[in-house]
Amino acid sequence: MKHLLKLGDLSEKEILEILNLADQLKYERKHGIAHEHLKGKTLGMIFQKSSTRTRVSFETGMYQLGGQALFLSNRDLQIGRGEPVQDTARVLSRYLDGIMIRTFEQKEVEDLATYGSIPVINGLTDYCHPCQILADLMTIREYKGTFHGLKACFIGDGNNMANSLIVGCLKVGMSFAIACPKGYEPDAGVLEFAKQYGDKFVMTTDVLEAAKDADVVITDVWASMGQEDEKAKREAAFAGYQVNDEVMAVAKPDAMVQHCLPAHREEEITTKVFEAHADEIFEEAENRLHAQKAVMVKLMKD
Ligand code: CP
Ligand code: NVA
Repeated sequence: MKHLLKLGDLSEKEILEILNLADQLKYERKHGIAHEHLKGKTLGMIFQKSSTRTRVSFETGMYQLGGQALFLSNRDLQIGRGEPVQDTARVLSRYLDGIMIRTFEQKEVEDLATYGSIPVINGLTDYCHPCQILADLMTIREYKGTFHGLKACFIGDGNNMANSLIVGCLKVGMSFAIACPKGYEPDAGVLEFAKQYGDKFVMTTDVLEAAKDADVVITDVWASMGQEDEKAKREAAFAGYQVNDEVMAVAKPDAMVQHCLPAHREEEITTKVFEAHADEIFEEAENRLHAQKAVMVKLMKD
C-alpha cells in the first residue's frame, strides 16, 4: 500500500490491518503510551475545501506521532493560482514525507500520487471519503464486535460518503442497503463493484426498505461542499430521506447511528435521533484521529 486514494484500492486484509493498528493506537493514547512512529517527518495538508475534523485530526495526529503537519490552503498555495498539480506534486515530494489532500476532483488526488514520489492520502473528494469510512468501520466494530452478519444502511445522497461506505462495508463482510432519490444514485463504477456481492447490496428509493433490520443507520448532508447553489433543489429532492423515529423503528432495536458531520438537524437527521445516538456519532468523530494515525504510520513509517 503506497497511497490511500480510495478504498477500492485496498484489500480486506489491508483495511483490517489499518483498523487493528488504529485500535492499538487508541489504546496507547488512552493509557499515555507514547508512539512516536513518525519522528522528524512532515505531512503537508492541502485544503481546497473547508474542514474541522480532517484538519484537526491529521494535524494533532501527526504531532502525537512525533512529526509535524503543515496546513496548506488553496488561498495561499500557487495551486490556487493555477500552478499545475503535476509540478506541485514534484516540488512537495522534495520537502515532505506525505501529502493529505482535500479537493473536488478525484483526478487531482490521483495525479498528485502519479507525479509525486511520496504517499498521498485522500482527505475527501467529490467522489469519495476513505479516511472517514475507516473511522466509521472502526466505530462499528468497536460497538458491535464484528462486521460479519451486520447490515448497514445509508439514507440520502449517493455522494462521496455513500460511494466509500458501499465499498468499505461490503469489503469487510457487511451487507449494505442504500435509499436515495432517483437522479442521486452513487457512482456507476461503485454500483458495478457492488454487483459482485449479489443480494448483499440493495439500492432502493424506499427509505424503510433500506433501513429494515439494519444494525447501522448512516446518513450525510443533502448538499455537499461545492453544491451550495443546489440547496433548494436538493431540499425538495431529499424531503423524506431523513433518519427519524420512523426509520429507527424498522431498524434493529439496538441499531447504531453514524454521521460523518457536520450534521444539518431536521434535514437528513432529526435532533431527537441525533442526540439519542450522540455517543456513537462523536466516538466516530474521535476515531478519525486514531484511524488516520494508523494510515499515516502504514504509509509513512520507514
Ligand atoms: N467528516 C469530515 O470530514 O469533517 P470535516 O469536513 O470537518 O473535516
Ligand atoms: N458529503 C459531505 C461530507 C462532509 C464531510 C461533503 O462532501 O461536504
